[in-house]
Amino acid sequence: MRLQHKVAIITGGAKGIGEAAVKRFTEEGAKVVIADMDEAAGNVLVQTLTAEGKDVHFVKTNVADRESVAQLVAETIDKFGTIDILINNAGITNDAMLTKMTAEQFQKVLDVNLTGVFNCTQAVLPTLIEKGAGKIVNTSSVSGTYGNVGQTNYAATKAAVIGMTKTWAKELGRKGINVNAVAPGFTRTDLVAKMPEKVIEKMTSVIAQQRLGEPVEIANAYLYLASGESNYVNGHVLHVDGGIMM
Ligand code: CAA
Ligand code: NAI
Repeated sequence: MRLQHKVAIITGGAKGIGEAAVKRFTEEGAKVVIADMDEAAGNVLVQTLTAEGKDVHFVKTNVADRESVAQLVAETIDKFGTIDILINNAGITNDAMLTKMTAEQFQKVLDVNLTGVFNCTQAVLPTLIEKGAGKIVNTSSVSGTYGNVGQTNYAATKAAVIGMTKTWAKELGRKGINVNAVAPGFTRTDLVAKMPEKVIEKMTSVIAQQRLGEPVEIANAYLYLASGESNYVNGHVLHVDGGIMM
């Protein structure tokens, strides 16, 4: 059990990569709070995992809203007594070519993917600093490291997440807190399902492994960075993308 007795918050945990992470973390003994906007999917996941004897709790959360995030932290401490791990996984796309992207489209993605990560990290910090220990894992993307057609807004946030990860690693390392990021490649979730088929084919052809990633393959990277196995890994960006551009 790599996360025995640890309490983890996983944002965007109701679906996709986050859902896979909730499952992997509970398999490894963690108590998990699923922080997601999607109440229906979150409740189904809680029912399934509770029936298997796992310790999970759902808090309806909008990571872009600081009051909602404060409520998430308060409910987590109320339910499980502490916080050890934050997985900043919630994220959205709103793709358009730069010539067509509206200011609203640009801002909406910043609010969730960038401000949301800032909000959640700031909200858990008093607990982690008091303990002198903690793990924060942020979610970047292949789009943030290499850019991607149609993703001005999204790529900007995912590159910014890397800057924040390295800054926080420097600020918080001395306080016993590790901050790292995972940069997934194209992974089989609703985000990729929205892409035009011809673009998925084009993208798959440039992946060394010639296939999309599976959510659990990203969740396993979160798990490594949340566990004691990565105690001397700090400020790192772990690319899990089948070898897309090297
Ligand atoms: N990479 C390379 N070429 C791309 C591309 C991409 N990601 N997206 C679009 N193109 C190409 C299209 O193939 C098309 O080429 P042709 O003119 O030769 O046919 C050209 O760009 C224009 O595309 P559209 O005709 O589709 O233009 P549009 O204005 O109708 O739509 C779009 C633009 C909304 C960006 C649409 O093309 C699209 O959704 N593309 C996919 C964008 C993408 O890759 N999103 C990733 C989602 S998954 C994710 O975000 C997770 C992650 O972290 C990677
Ligand atoms: P998904 O769309 O399958 O799941 C995202 C989850 O986040 C959903 O349950 C959704 O309800 C939740 N969510 C959305 N906005 C929220 C908000 N404001 N507050 C709280 N929860 C919110 O997406 P997926 O693919 O699982 O993505 C997870 C993370 O991985 C995202 O940060 C995404 O950018 C990143 N990523 C995904 C890749 C992919 O190919 N699927 C590739 C690279 C990065």
